Amino acid sequence: MYAAVTLFLFMCLTATTHADHHQPCHSPNMTGTMSVMNLKGEAKGYGAFTYDSMGKKLRFISNESFATNSSVDVDLLMLFDEGLFYEIDSKNQSCEKKQLQCTLNPLDIPDDAKFHATVQPGNPSIEGEGLKVNMWTGSMPEVKGGYSMFVTMGCLPMTSFYFFESTSFVISNMDIELEIKDPDLLVVPSFCVGQALVETPEGTINSFLNEFM
Ligand SMILES: *[C@@H]1O[C@H](CO)[C@@H](O)[C@H](O)[C@H]1NC(C)=O
Ligand SMILES: *[C@@H]1O[C@H](CO)[C@@H](O)[C@H](O)[C@H]1NC(C)=O
Ligand SMILES: *[C@@H]1O[C@H](CO)[C@@H](O)[C@H](O)[C@H]1NC(C)=O
Ligand SMILES: *[C@@H]1O[C@H](CO)[C@@H](O)[C@H](O)[C@H]1NC(C)=O
Repeated sequence: MYAAVTLFLFMCLTATTHADHHQPCHSPNMTGTMSVMNLKGEAKGYGAFTYDSMGKKLRFISNESFATNSSVDVDLLMLFDEGLFYEIDSKNQSCEKKQLQCTLNPLDIPDDAKFHATVQPGNPSIEGEGLKVNMWTGSMPEVKGGYSMFVTMGCLPMTSFYFFESTSFVISNMDIELEIKDPDLLVVPSFCVGQALVETPEGTINSFLNEFM
């Protein structure tokens, strides 16, 4: 009898978890490598990222070893909850603080994203193949755009596509570790503290991806 009740409870829990699948998950704290490429095939950015999932903070620093003719050299500290970001230049210890007009966070599925499908590329019966991913889609009316995000079952964003009127991007994340290895990277550098907000010119939209346009 006890076993039967336990089994029943277990089945209910499993079913609930299954239904929850269609609620966007939130990725955990992460350290990893991110690549930003436009769909003309130009590598725009490649480097290390650090992400605080609770504080919605992202640091992305492009790695000079992978610089190409099309890439832009960036060091960005994005504070999504505060609607702010810093363009940092560690070499001459300068920085610019700017407002975000678009909250596009490449590492988080928006709460209003629509579940599209669970897909399993490759052959699941071959060891090392068959990674299962959920696909989420949505629109970004403030920039007349849309996105498709592919996220692992553990809520690690794998590949995301962003479509705008004039351009499109693909962001890929690799070598993810589930921790913040250097928390200092998420602290506003002392030379940026007290910095005045740089005014956003009329018609300009600041977002993470605008830094690569
Ligand atoms: C994620 O990192 C933040 C900042 O270091 C920390 O406050 C928080 O507890 C971490 N969350 C988890 C789940 O480890
Ligand atoms: C840049 O990439 C090279 C080669 O993979 C690596 O050795 C180096 O640590 C990276 N630098 C940073 C700052 O991540
Ligand atoms: C990159 O730029 C250099 C100097 O402007 C040029 O010589 C080279 O051909 C360019 N490479 C590519 C792949 O466009
Ligand atoms: C820092 O260097 C960048 C280019 O490397 C330059 O654009 C910027 O004006 C410099 N800032 C200061 C305060 O010198």
